[in-house]
Amino acid sequence: MSIPAQSEGTVITKGDAAPGEILLKVSGLQKHFPIRKGLLQRQVGAVRAVDGIDFEVRAGETLGVVGESGCGKSTMGRLITRLLEPTAGTVEFEGKDITHLGVSGMRPLRRDVQMIFQDPYSSLNPRHTIGTIIGAPFRLQGVTPEGGIKKEVQRLLSVVGLNPEHYNRYPHEFSGGQRQRIGIARALALNPKLVVADEPVSALDVSIQAQVVNLLDDLQQELGLTYVIIAHDLSVVRHVSDRIAVMYLGKIVELADRESLYKAPMHPYTKALMSAVPIPDPRRKNAKSERILLKGDVPSPISPPSGCRFHTRCWKATQICTTTEPPLIELKPGQRVACHHPENFEDQAPQDTVLLSVAKEAAELVSDEVLAESAETSAAVAAEVAAEVEVAEDAAPEASEDEASEDEAPAKEK
Ligand SMILES: Nc1ncnc2c1ncn2[C@@H]1O[C@H](COP(=O)(O)OP(=O)(O)OP(=O)(O)O)[C@@H](O)[C@H]1O
Ligand code: SF4
Ligand SMILES: [Mg+2]
Repeated sequence: MSIPAQSEGTVITKGDAAPGEILLKVSGLQKHFPIRKGLLQRQVGAVRAVDGIDFEVRAGETLGVVGESGCGKSTMGRLITRLLEPTAGTVEFEGKDITHLGVSGMRPLRRDVQMIFQDPYSSLNPRHTIGTIIGAPFRLQGVTPEGGIKKEVQRLLSVVGLNPEHYNRYPHEFSGGQRQRIGIARALALNPKLVVADEPVSALDVSIQAQVVNLLDDLQQELGLTYVIIAHDLSVVRHVSDRIAVMYLGKIVELADRESLYKAPMHPYTKALMSAVPIPDPRRKNAKSERILLKGDVPSPISPPSGCRFHTRCWKATQICTTTEPPLIELKPGQRVACHHPENFEDQAPQDTVLLSVAKEAAELVSDEVLAESAETSAAVAAEVAAEVEVAEDAAPEASEDEASEDEAPAKEK
């Protein structure tokens, strides 16, 4: 789709997403990396790194994306910043389809969408001064900021909490945390709308991580940024995300606002990820230990398990999980889940009760407290649903009275 040229006098904010509006929309997004073999380099298979995901990012929000190593988070980040070409699906930014824009078509968009990389050591060219590194986006885009590049770079350095006098220093003269600040300054240079941060703090000391996350948070408030923050586990994103997407083997298995996800996670994998995060809450110190250990590694994305991809490691898996892929559906307002037997919700396949043997093995790794809690909450939700149905039946309009009396009639005859 071509982008219509802006006529003179057009207000630049036209098409800009107001806070809360959808800035980025991803539908059916896939990235399959071909595996080639032999002299002829014939394709013999594919790594299904991202295998059909749908989500949207609203202006001004932070979407956290979590999942174990290899589940496709970085590939997803590179697809939405269009550093990679998708195999299928669409990416829309501010309502424009950018899925297959070429280099020149993407140039204006490069200003609006920026990426912060995981490794602050390898992502900064060691031979360039930080002045050159942070100033590079201006040169690439042919933009001269007011007051010149040097002045603007120095302003950016102070924005990210570095000394503007260090303009001429080289990356090796900075610590990991400072280097990540340099990466952030570079990403902010062109005043982007969307910043995708791929594990921005995982290479840093734990003591520094919070500083960098807080810096990102402060910058968001000041500059009205929209973030997609990718992380291995929930500890990094839990405080800064408005919504969280949980990925497993190239798919989103749960997408919910932070509160709902923490209060009542519905996907068993989310629950496992959450229980892996130590909770530094003194009130919970003596609380039941509810760690869930995930058995084995994530299966290969070359031939993912049939049905629900998590069934080889899930303690709730039944037959249907091996054959039928659960769709990602909104079970509660704002909470989308892909599971036949969700936690904290009514069972979606109640007829299917026999646990797979692999589930029984996995359940050994789940503490009794978790299993009991899971059964308890499912029963509570089922009771709630039953009560709602009763209320609805009681409040049913008169029209159904005829049907009811018809139903009752034979019973009376007996
Ligand atoms: N260029 C590529 N060619 C082939 N396979 C790739 C390529 N890039 C990634 N993959 C594969 O795609 C899958 C997803 O990789 P990706 O880097 O997106 O995962 P990730 O969730 O970011 O993992 P991590 O947490 O380790 O960074 C992996 O199996 C990976 O080996
Ligand atoms: S219960 Fe079934 S559908 Fe749900 S996560 Fe486990 S294996 Fe997947
Ligand atoms: Mg990654």
